[in-house]
Formats: sequence, C-alpha cells, structure tokens
Amino acid sequence: MRKVQFFDTTLRDGEQTPGVNFNTHDKVRIALQLEKWGVDCIEAGFPVASPGDFEAVNEIAKNMTTMTVCGLARCHKKDIDAAYKALEPAKNKQIHVFLATSPIHMEYKLKMTPDEVLASIAEHVAYAKTLFDVVQFSPEDATRTEREFLLKSVQTAVDHGATIINVPDTVGYTTPSEYGAIFRYLLDNIDNHGADVIYSSHCHDDLGMATSNSLAAIENGATRIEGTVNGIGERAGNTPIEECATALHIRRDFYNAESSIVLVETKNTSDLVSALSGLAIPKNKAIIGSNAFAHESGIHQDGVLKNPETYEIITPQLVGFKTNHLPLGKLSGRHAFATKMAELGYYLEGEELKHAFDNFKILADKKKVVEERDLLALMGDAVANNESWIIDRIELAYDSFGEQEASVSLTTKAYGNVSAKAVGAGSVEAIYNTIDKIYKQDTRLTYYTIDAVTDGIDAQAQVNITVQDNKTGKLYNASGLDYDVIQASAKAYIKAKELVLNEEGE
Ligand code: KIV
Ligand code: ZN
Repeated sequence: MRKVQFFDTTLRDGEQTPGVNFNTHDKVRIALQLEKWGVDCIEAGFPVASPGDFEAVNEIAKNMTTMTVCGLARCHKKDIDAAYKALEPAKNKQIHVFLATSPIHMEYKLKMTPDEVLASIAEHVAYAKTLFDVVQFSPEDATRTEREFLLKSVQTAVDHGATIINVPDTVGYTTPSEYGAIFRYLLDNIDNHGADVIYSSHCHDDLGMATSNSLAAIENGATRIEGTVNGIGERAGNTPIEECATALHIRRDFYNAESSIVLVETKNTSDLVSALSGLAIPKNKAIIGSNAFAHESGIHQDGVLKNPETYEIITPQLVGFKTNHLPLGKLSGRHAFATKMAELGYYLEGEELKHAFDNFKILADKKKVVEERDLLALMGDAVANNESWIIDRIELAYDSFGEQEASVSLTTKAYGNVSAKAVGAGSVEAIYNTIDKIYKQDTRLTYYTIDAVTDGIDAQAQVNITVQDNKTGKLYNASGLDYDVIQASAKAYIKAKELVLNEEGE
C-alpha cells in the first residue's frame, strides 16, 4: 500500500479564518494534539509575518518530537532567514516557499513578468536549499496557471532543490478531474533528476470540492494532502484533514493507500480546534458533526438495529466519539481529573490545572452526569478565559415598558470593579448593551448562536459569537459556556470585548 502523508496548516492557513486568533499557548497545545493524531508535518506559521508568528513557530519547533515542523516563506531572503531562525530547534524541519504563477497574480499582485517569476523561484529555492534539507515549493494559484508555465515553474523549483511540490488551488476553483489531470501532467513531465519528489495537494473549499479534489490528486499520483482540522481557513476554508484521512481508511480498497493518522484521536483534535478557534462544528459536518452518526428515520433505525452496516459505513468509535460516560464525579480527585484531561489532549499543570479542576467541581455539583463533551467544552472555555475578568453579578427585570433591564457588575484587569445598567428588547440584548457601556468600544455583534453541549434539560449552553471592531473592521470570535444561557451569553461577549481591548490596548 502507498503511504499518504498529511500536512496540517491549521495554524497558518487555518488561522486566516476571519475572527480566529490563536495565541502561542493555544498553538503549542494544538500542535501537540496534531502530533498525537499522527500528522506528518505541521505548518506552524509564517515566521516573518510578526514577532508573534515567529515565537509560535519557534515554540512549536522546541516542543515536537516526531512531527516535522514547517514555516512559510515568500520568495524573499528575509522570509527564508526568519523561517530558518524560528525552526532552528526543530528535530525535523522543512521550509515552504511560494510564489504565484497565474497570469492574474503575476500581472496585478506581483507586477512581475513570467521570466522574473522563474528567476525568483530559481534564486529563492536555491537559497532555501542552502539552509534546509527539505524545501517545499508552491506555485500559488496553480490551478489558474497556464499548464506550460506551471510545468516550467515546477521544473525550475525541482532543478534548484525542491523535493516537495505543492499544487495550490488557491481560490477553490478546480474540479476533481481537472485537478487530477494537473498532477498526472506534472508527474509525467517533470524531470526529478532521480530524486524522490513528493507531490502534494492544497485545496480551498469555495465550490465545496476541497475533499474531492484532494482525493482526486491522490488517485493521480500525489502522496501528500495539505489541509486543516475542521476545514477552517480563508473564505470557505481548506480541505478538512479528518474527511480525507477517514475516506482513505474506509475506502482503502479503492485508494490502496494508508496514512499515519490515528483515527481514534480525530474527535479530540476537532473539539480542541473548535474550542480554541471559537468556531462551532456544524451538526451535520461529515465525520465530526454531532449528527454524523445519528439515525432519525424509522427505516434507517430499523436497519441499524438489525445490522449497523445497513446504514453505517463508519463507526463513531473509529473516529473517537465516546459513548461511555466519564467515570469522574464530584468526589473525584485532582490526579484522576488531570489524567483524564491528558487523555483528552489537555496536559494541565499548576494554576491552569487548579482553575480547570475548580470549574469541573462546580459543574459536577450541578449536573447529574458529566460527559467528556462537557469537559472538552469546559476546557475550551477555561483556555479562552485567562482569568482577566469575572462576572460578579447579573440581574434582570422587566421595566414598566415591558423591556428587559439588565444590571451587570464585573471585575476586570483593566477596569477593576465596574457596574452598569441598560435596557434591551430581550435579556441578552439588555446584557450586551450593559457590557457595551462598561467597555465603551466601537464594535458591533455580527454573529450569535446558542447550542446545547449535550442532550437533556441539564445540558450546558455554548454560545458562539463574532464581534466586529468598527474602527479596524477586524473580527473577533469568542465562545461562552455555562449551565445558564444568560451567563454563557455574557461570558462570550465579555471575552470578545477583552480580545478587542487587548488588541487596541485601550
Ligand atoms: O492557498 C494557497 O495558495 C496557499 C499558499 C501559501 C500555498 O495557502
Ligand atoms: Zn491556502
């Protein structure tokens, strides 16, 4: 069987999702989970982009033991030097150099002629090769690049030392048969000079074909798939790795390929990225959505009872859905809790462990059965909170006009003890208007959803919101979790306001 590698770009292309801003701590946590999941290579960031990106790539480089760590670089020496420095501590490393090759990108974005583009590829791939054993080259917007020029660009990269060729469908424009044919064309025509060259897919989901396109690449000779967890990324997102890895496994009869992905870690990985990105997973999402294994129609239920294989091609257990309840209760000790959390991908210590354990105890007091989904949600909440504020009190009452009046008291790092009152058409609006009075920021709420973490009347509420800073246009995602929907809503909003505050330094 062929081996198909997975290259995860959740922390680079995935972080380009509007409103998603991982801090270094979150990034290392995700990277550790990706290593556990069996990802071959992680694109940890774009080191030249900012000191924060550099630091994150560097921290990830220090912390990985088996997974290769990659940094992105444009065809600029300063980018390549920054990637080299950031990746210095990595046990296994590679660089990813890219330059656009489509007519529209060359003319309008780069303002370079095709010959200048070829010269730049030659110069920068060769330079990268003096610093890295493994150099990956991407002709950006490859699928809208004229075939002959694509061949010339890739050949130039291979001639100058690239041993991984990634073919980006940058704008999600291609189709499975067209994308497959591009791989065939390159594989049949590139002279690898006897080197082992890996061909890799990189797809965006604008037309909903990212997974199909990536698998078409595999059918046509590619041996690597680039993607993100939960398919997060610019616009409609990137190829969801969990979909491709599961498809390769379930249809190994067809693809005749295997990967190193530890499928049972899929759900944990997905939940972690969902919690830290503030992006909820749609219920009907393939592989990881909470309805992915639910059978509603009577005919289906009857069939599944007689033989699950009638309607179930994947078992929930295969991808790590837990059906058993958590064997922890309100009498469980800190050690048992820490061990369980490590199993779930959270390696907690010190203050963080104390905080998480306190939250677990509060929940265990309220909820009859604490499920793993509760704990994962609780952790996402704790990680995003960082304790820079607490809600002291929230009160709601109808005023004489039938509107809700909210009174909120907070203690925050920036403002100390503050209280305010405001009215709104409903309770959430009243609370949000009150919080607006406290933070005095020019923002607006652009997205609000509420969901139950588990089934049942005692389920925790998970609120996901997006707030836009009217001054900069920047989006901030945040989520709030609580046994009470009002508290969950308030927490999400305060978190978003704190994100804006930290960025603006007001
Ligand atoms: O989509 C794209 O073209 C990219 C490149 C940087 C590889 O993400
Ligand atoms: Zn991309």
